[in-house]
Amino acid sequence: MAYQNLITTVKDNILYVTINREKALNALNKDTLTELAEVIVYANETDEVLGVILTGAGEKAFVAGADIKEFSDYTGKQGEELARNGQEKVFNAIENSTKPFVAAINGFALGGGLELAMACHIRIAADQAKMGLPEVTLGLIPGYGGTQRLTQLVGKGKAIELIITANMITAVEAEKIGLVNHIVPQADLVAKAEEILSFVKQRAPLAVAAAMKAVVASVNEPDGYQVEIEAFGKCFETADFKEGVAAFVEKRKPVFVKK
Ligand code: HXC
Repeated sequence: MAYQNLITTVKDNILYVTINREKALNALNKDTLTELAEVIVYANETDEVLGVILTGAGEKAFVAGADIKEFSDYTGKQGEELARNGQEKVFNAIENSTKPFVAAINGFALGGGLELAMACHIRIAADQAKMGLPEVTLGLIPGYGGTQRLTQLVGKGKAIELIITANMITAVEAEKIGLVNHIVPQADLVAKAEEILSFVKQRAPLAVAAAMKAVVASVNEPDGYQVEIEAFGKCFETADFKEGVAAFVEKRKPVFVKK
């Protein structure tokens, strides 16, 4: 996988993706979004990949938003297209991935950058990270799912306050309102993400995917309970379920084969 704006590598079943536009604070231009869409497909299709860690290059920014310079002369129709295309191919695609995505927020996560982190399944912030949705300072609103996912994560009151004030919050404040799962020193960021994925990697991959699908259905589907019931039933048809139970009875570690 050779990309212009991403650095990617796979090690110990983890796909590491670094958004690499440090001079522009890793802002999401069109090409970066196209590459992200490709890497998400790759993660889903590659059995070797059991989890993804997504971060930004350098120590200043995770992602400072969509690339403002690219859409300064857009029409309303082009703006809609930008939001729809990005949501479908990148933001929703991450949320609906069968592999867990962990956002390692190494600095500013603003606008589309925070929206990207919120599309991930787990967020870990470096202690100096700052987060916010500053779109109204530009005369815009969040367009990559931010109004929906921020509300889901922190509740309507906090979401509205953050969006209409456009104020940035610290990692500590973000953890307090449930926007990030953990805060660690910058140097420990990737290690913390790896630690979380080290547990997931030992679990049955099809069950992990089914569990994430059911949780996401709680906000995106009309009847998440039904999705859970069906996904639960399907688990019984997997070889990994039989292996998990056999390993428990035989008092040994399970060996899952993703079947
Ligand atoms: C393009 C950006 C950028 C962005 C920073 N840069 N953010 N370029 N798009 N979103 C560029 C700057 O132009 C500058 O390049 C370089 O990165 C360094 O940024 P500075 O502003 O000089 O750094 P600093 O003074 O430290 O301020 C850091 C910052 C600020 C607070 C993060 O850059 C900032 O406010 N950025 C914009 C954040 C924002 O509004 N994001 C939301 C975007 S809208 P040059 O070449 O000038 O030196 C959005 C919509 C999503 O995300 C939905 C779409 C559908």
